[in-house]
Amino acid sequence: MTWETVTLEWDDDGAVATLTVDRPDALNALNVETLEAMLEAIEEATDGDARALVVTGAGDAFIAGADIKYMRQLSVEEAQAWGELGHAVADAISSFPAPTVAAVNGYAFGGGCEMALACDLRVAGESAIIGNTEIDLGIIPGWGATQRLPRIVGDETARRMIYLGQRLDAESAAEAGLFGEVVADEDLRDVATELAGRLAAKPAFALQAAKQSIDQSYEGSPRAGLDYEKRAFASLFGTHDQREGMEAFVEDREPDFE
Ligand code: CAA
Repeated sequence: MTWETVTLEWDDDGAVATLTVDRPDALNALNVETLEAMLEAIEEATDGDARALVVTGAGDAFIAGADIKYMRQLSVEEAQAWGELGHAVADAISSFPAPTVAAVNGYAFGGGCEMALACDLRVAGESAIIGNTEIDLGIIPGWGATQRLPRIVGDETARRMIYLGQRLDAESAAEAGLFGEVVADEDLRDVATELAGRLAAKPAFALQAAKQSIDQSYEGSPRAGLDYEKRAFASLFGTHDQREGMEAFVEDREPDFE
């Protein structure tokens, strides 16, 4: 299949699939069309028995977040569906049967950070900047970060990142445990593909079992946490601060929160 804003490429062995979000004019911000295309591309990679999946962004950004221009007008009910769709993509990445590697180039904010968090491993280019910046839009992370980020960086760091909307450069994020390695931007794609190739060469069933066993340790209350997050995220679309935060972004001015 082909999509307007997503590509799926395979290596010569048909083992490593690379999903690229390709909407560079919006710094790969995720709209409904792109999220739905990601779901289909992930399904295609699954059906093609990919032994590893790389997720990356075209151009100078990984993913600058959920599409604020779309999101700003959503009602609570619409935000519920929007949150469900983003969660479905993050869950599809997280539960992909083979290992996943995020190749984080440039901006990875909000929902973009969350797609990277859903991957098993993260490699960054030196220009990467990552963060859950939603607080400055009057909302909270809506696609998994309140549950996935603390597991990766620890509670204190996650709270600081989310409460303050911190944007971490690649080295700081690596020190926090968000990135396994930082490489030169021009090497990022090769390094991520090579790592995915090494994973693809491992015994697939054992790797799958290892992945599922590690994931198992997070089941239970984190699921309840994700469901809680969905409701909390959607409810914020009934607030002044959400409207104001997103209007201010679009109008390129400082927000005036309640
Ligand atoms: N949504 C929609 N459009 C976006 C976008 C987003 N998240 N991020 C960037 N764009 C668009 C810009 O509006 C701009 O479009 P136009 O040329 O049509 O005006 C284009 O991409 C280029 O962006 P900038 O001109 O702003 O580029 P810059 O280099 O000056 O700044 C940036 C880059 C720092 C990433 C800045 O664009 C920015 O702060 N973007 C928003 C980041 C953000 O807050 N993301 C979180 C979204 S909330 C979320 O994701 C919720 C969730 O959990 C589900």
